[in-house]
Amino acid sequence: MNSILVTGGAGFIGSNFVRMILSEHADCLVVNLDSLTYAGNLGNLEGFMDHPQHKFVKGDICDGAGVEKLIDEYKIDSIINFAAESHVDRSLVDPGIFIETNVKGTLALLKAALDKGIGRFLQVSTDEVYGSLGSEGMFTEDTPLSPNSPYSASKAGADHLVKAFGHSWGLEYNITRCSNNYGPYQFPEKMIPLMINNALADKELPVYGDGLYVRDWLYVYDHCTAIWKVLTEGKPGEIYNVGGNNEKTNLEVIGLILERLGKDSSLITYVKDRPGHDRRYAIDSSKMMSELGWAPTVTFEEGIVRTIDWYLENAKWLETIVSGEYEKYYDSMYSGR
Ligand code: NAD
Ligand code: DAU
Repeated sequence: MNSILVTGGAGFIGSNFVRMILSEHADCLVVNLDSLTYAGNLGNLEGFMDHPQHKFVKGDICDGAGVEKLIDEYKIDSIINFAAESHVDRSLVDPGIFIETNVKGTLALLKAALDKGIGRFLQVSTDEVYGSLGSEGMFTEDTPLSPNSPYSASKAGADHLVKAFGHSWGLEYNITRCSNNYGPYQFPEKMIPLMINNALADKELPVYGDGLYVRDWLYVYDHCTAIWKVLTEGKPGEIYNVGGNNEKTNLEVIGLILERLGKDSSLITYVKDRPGHDRRYAIDSSKMMSELGWAPTVTFEEGIVRTIDWYLENAKWLETIVSGEYEKYYDSMYSGR
């Protein structure tokens, strides 16, 4: 049986990934290490918390000794690092924690992986490390890194560290760089669930700038299958871009949400732009497709409906999340904007 340490497995993508492994890959033990920040939620593990192949551990990736203990205890053979501070807007308010978790946390994991002779280290990175595109072109794996926000700078720093551990000491690694994910269990600070939550409450939909910023949206399940492919079939030392080939402006996405929920476009409110807002991301995933035979399976039209319906059917989950701390966050980020 393979034994995988998944970090950040109580977050959005991590919890979807663990759910996928447990339902599709019977020969795997998953040790799920998560410090349960505001973004990590045990409610995301609903249905598999007590699964015999799943062991949840509350802990910090910055605690190298703790990670080494887990590696020994569960005979871990690979590590997938999802754990991160992941929201660009928060990084523009408080960049320090992004360096602590995304850079120093990754460093602690890398040291533990090297000391314990881990077979594969998979770093879950982002297309944002490449910077921003104009109206033409796509990011390939050879595009130079040019991050623009503290979040993307911290993720690029982590990517460089991973490569350095491979180059200097032969750690077997992969890096995946994915475009914007959407789907169930996404924290409503991110654009799609935030707009769904606001529209449901007939609250203003805060559109940054002119709303014509472009993202390449990928349904979260398809990101999870890509990570699995890379873990099991990727060549050591290779970087793989993952994307949906599905570019949409923010206004197009918001239009689909309003339509599905039967709400009026008068809810759209243009607010002050994000500082240094990246204009466009587009990912060339041809390496994943030709070398590993991966392809997305969910179209955006299908995925956005599934996502909206999931939020409608999981009103309790949403309600728990948007009470308390979230209200303070929302006010501090949006009032007077
Ligand atoms: P998320 O914010 O939903 O989840 C992050 C998880 O990490 C949370 O459960 C949190 O509790 C945990 N965590 C944070 N600090 C930790 C620490 N010090 N120790 C242990 N756990 C810690 O993020 P997400 O959207 O699921 O993103 C997961 C990963 O994928 C991140 O590395 C992110 O950079 C990357 N990524 C995200 C997207 C996207 O669209 N969301 C796209 C590409 C790549
Ligand atoms: O591209 C991958 C990245 O996608 C990941 O690495 C990040 O972890 C993830 O958060 C995401 O970053 P973005 O900044 O692209 O996602 P976000 O959902 O925050 O914003 C999407 C777009 O919507 C962006 O152009 C900003 C805009 N936006 C966002 C919010 C929260 C708004 O117009 N209004 C909003 O209130």
